[in-house]
Amino acid sequence: MQRIGVLTSGGDCPGLNAAIRAIVRSAIALGWSVTGIRHGYEGLLRGEVVPLDAAAVSGIINRGGTMLHTARSSEFETSEGMKRAAAALDQLGLAGLLVLGGNGSLRGAWELSKLARTPIVGIPKSIDNDVGGTDCAIGFDTAVNTVLEAIDRIRDTATSHDRLFLVEVMGRKNGYLALAAGLAAGAEEVLVPEVPTDLDAVCRRLEEGKRRGKRSSIIVVAEGDDAGGAFAIAEAIAKRVSGYEIRVSVLGHQQRGGAPTAFDRLLASRLGAAAVNVLKGGQRGKMIGLIHDEVVVSDLERAWREMPRFRPELVTLASVLAS
Ligand code: F6P
Repeated sequence: MQRIGVLTSGGDCPGLNAAIRAIVRSAIALGWSVTGIRHGYEGLLRGEVVPLDAAAVSGIINRGGTMLHTARSSEFETSEGMKRAAAALDQLGLAGLLVLGGNGSLRGAWELSKLARTPIVGIPKSIDNDVGGTDCAIGFDTAVNTVLEAIDRIRDTATSHDRLFLVEVMGRKNGYLALAAGLAAGAEEVLVPEVPTDLDAVCRRLEEGKRRGKRSSIIVVAEGDDAGGAFAIAEAIAKRVSGYEIRVSVLGHQQRGGAPTAFDRLLASRLGAAAVNVLKGGQRGKMIGLIHDEVVVSDLERAWREMPRFRPELVTLASVLAS
């Protein structure tokens, strides 16, 4: 009987439990057993392992977060820590390790796979949807719907009070979550790290909107936007545009929680099962993704070398459709 391992690394997101369930149940169907490693690479270094049988993953497909817990490990990022992690992994005697992670964690998996004998396969997850080799990472769909629902609610109160709202959305380096939710919510502006923010132009459009009779507006700001975050932008706008009461809402970590959508459960189930199959086929240093609805196996490097293309035309579209 083969024994494989699974860990979740980096920021959590909805759909991780569905993926763990798919991995465990697919492995059991092959007659294999599964070891869970808790707290990501940190737990690998500390030897935090737990057996996962069919019952252990029962009733989790609908739950947000990760039953294995997760961490951002600074020790693992050092070359010494990486060597220790490779030795600890090989010591476990696993036939393979599946890593559920974003682009940083999958890059770590690639480094680890160069040092360890144990084959490693990556599965992309990220609410930011910034992992290469897949159209969509696990967790993005749920997060974008969570953000959308929050903006819709804010729109209700913004309209009632004739206010301008700045809504700050997660995304330190990547604004796709903000852009997708902002476009879907009909936000007047979406400010993202990929496009330099021109505050004069934003203020000009707000003034034009007022002249056309607009009494409230929503500006969605990705947290990594170059204008300094929602509070700083609100202050700058208040100095230049009169006649608006301004409020700021930072959505924060609620964006990472909650029950996964049907899309994320399906994606996680397909990718988890496919990753087990890649190990069965004897491959190593690979990642699984979904491209044009087909499961695609790529080299693990693709996860961070080939970032999904940013679509500036969607920023323009958001602004045109909201004017
Ligand atoms: O990487 C996902 C993410 O949610 C980013 O959008 C956000 O900037 C970051 O994690 C927050 O991380 P933490 O929970 O460690 O503060």
